[in-house]
Amino acid sequence: METMKRTTTCGALGKADAGKKVTLNGWVNRKRDHGGISFVNLRDRYGTTQVVVDSDASEALKAVAGELKSEFCVAIEGTVRARPDSMVNPDMATGEIEVVAADIVVLSKCEGLPFQIEDETDAKEELRLKYRYLDLRSGGMQRRIKLRSNVAFAVREYMIGEGFYEIETPTFIKSTPEGARDYLVPSRLYPGKFYALPQSPQLYKQILMVSGFDKYFQIARCYRDEDARGDRQPEFTQIDIEMSFVSREDILTMIEGLMGHVFTKTMDVALPATFRRIAYDDALELYGTDKPDLRFAMEMQDFAPYVAGSTFQAFKDALATGASEQAASAARGITVQGGGVKALVVPGKADYSRKQLDELEAAAKIYRAKGMAWMKVVAASGDKTGTGATAGEPGAPALEGGASKFFAGNAAEIISGLGAKVGDLILLVADSKRRTANIALGAVRTKLGRDLGFCDPKRFEFAWIIDFPMFEYNEAEAKWDTAHHMFTWPQEKYHDTLESDPGSVKGDLYDLVLNGFELASGSIRIHDPVLQKRIFKIVGFDEAEGDKKFGFLTEAFKYGAPPHGGIAPGLDRLVMLMAGETSIKEVIAFPKNSFAVSPMDDCPNEVDQKQLDELHLSIRYPEK
Ligand code: AMO
Repeated sequence: METMKRTTTCGALGKADAGKKVTLNGWVNRKRDHGGISFVNLRDRYGTTQVVVDSDASEALKAVAGELKSEFCVAIEGTVRARPDSMVNPDMATGEIEVVAADIVVLSKCEGLPFQIEDETDAKEELRLKYRYLDLRSGGMQRRIKLRSNVAFAVREYMIGEGFYEIETPTFIKSTPEGARDYLVPSRLYPGKFYALPQSPQLYKQILMVSGFDKYFQIARCYRDEDARGDRQPEFTQIDIEMSFVSREDILTMIEGLMGHVFTKTMDVALPATFRRIAYDDALELYGTDKPDLRFAMEMQDFAPYVAGSTFQAFKDALATGASEQAASAARGITVQGGGVKALVVPGKADYSRKQLDELEAAAKIYRAKGMAWMKVVAASGDKTGTGATAGEPGAPALEGGASKFFAGNAAEIISGLGAKVGDLILLVADSKRRTANIALGAVRTKLGRDLGFCDPKRFEFAWIIDFPMFEYNEAEAKWDTAHHMFTWPQEKYHDTLESDPGSVKGDLYDLVLNGFELASGSIRIHDPVLQKRIFKIVGFDEAEGDKKFGFLTEAFKYGAPPHGGIAPGLDRLVMLMAGETSIKEVIAFPKNSFAVSPMDDCPNEVDQKQLDELHLSIRYPEK
């Protein structure tokens, strides 16, 4: 190899290098033969360079060139030659030159490929994962892995610059109740005992605050045994952060600075200095989700005020049932929302077909809507019986089709109240649970955003969702649960009414959302053992059990715990969105498939009986 070691890379040569003798190492991207001349497109991670084996090359060289096939790994020695103007390739960074080969050595051959290596392959995902080493050679994967590395570097640069320490926490930890199922590691030395892989470094980072490391971060691996989704993997990476002596605003500001730095450094994209803050309740009312896509507005509106003046019995029933359920809960001291009727005005889409409307209704029904009503805003013809339109002088906006017949009496009020225009489509969902109406119509809004091409992957619309509810009522068990985790600080103004009205309490919780994804989640934590006990009590968490599970944290808090809070942006999701992708697998070198399997190395796999014996384990297979 010594004599054929590369002197430059495949992405570096330009016109100024003409005449230079160079050696390139790389893979055969493509080979073409043209009237006795061979063109070899050589690739490495820096780019591609055209290598030419001229017609007057030695027979030996021509013979080697003749044998080259896609993805052979080769070393090529040659001389840089400027291409004639007519042959310059403006799409290639090295398109002004080619290298005239004097010697070619095949370093390693390549067998028949399972799929062609292209910039963006259309090979099936399972095949891409099985031959991940080949998939990773593609231009797209190379760019995304490079972006990920750059993002991780920019994160460290910013955090260290801001005075944070990067501290590793263990990946063998005590199993504690968190959101998902733990991955467990059996202990050989202690039969029947297990380590858990961390779902996040949550408890350790809080303990680091007790130890005085008031600005901590870590690019941390996390493990959760939960169902896979496009934005979820069983193992993933968080930019985990915790700070002492801070308020919520300090943390939000720090993250705004971090995101600004990362986007400028890695993509030359300037973000706004601060991100919008939206209260959780408002997010649900306006977008029907706590992770709204804000690349388009199309906000939902309250339609309940128009129901009394209509003849739509289904809507009236939803509101009446909601009101009586709300009154019944209030009598038991439980604050819940009543019913709701929500409207979405879709600009210019009065021409939607029955099929398109059915698809939108199906999206609403996934989220438990009983149905979705619709009406079109048209220009009244003046001949009301002829068009079926419900209001207006000739040319004025009127309602037509679908549910419009129920709103004959107040169509004009509805049209102006919703700010709808001729040509618009109005979509309506009612439910005795306002939350269901919001979430179902929100799903319709999200689908419309995608269908109507509002989701430009090059736009980045960040927002903070704040003021999350602290507790949610568990109807099945007739008790309160914490909406997130039990260490969240309830906002100060609710401390006196925690027990008397848990349903109204807001926690100091915040999520960072980007383009419809939850990018980060965090909270100010409870550092006061007395307050912690009150929370345990409200959710009926047995104190003795609590001590067993979290005792080390509550114990640590007895020794001068500082007020603290933190947050954890998901690195995979961040890079996915920056790269304009919708699956985090596209930004992870070796991800698992949707069944938590790695097809490349066939993991998870069975192990030897000897290994099981050493771990004191015997396997009980599920019955077929
Ligand atoms: P949370 O569980 O909300 O909070 O996770 C924080 C962020 O981590 C990312 N994330 C995931 N990414 C890929 N695959 C997964 N399975 C997955 N699960 C979560 C998301 C999410 O917003 N300890 C708290 C944070 C804190 O309070 O400081 C926590 O882990 O981007």
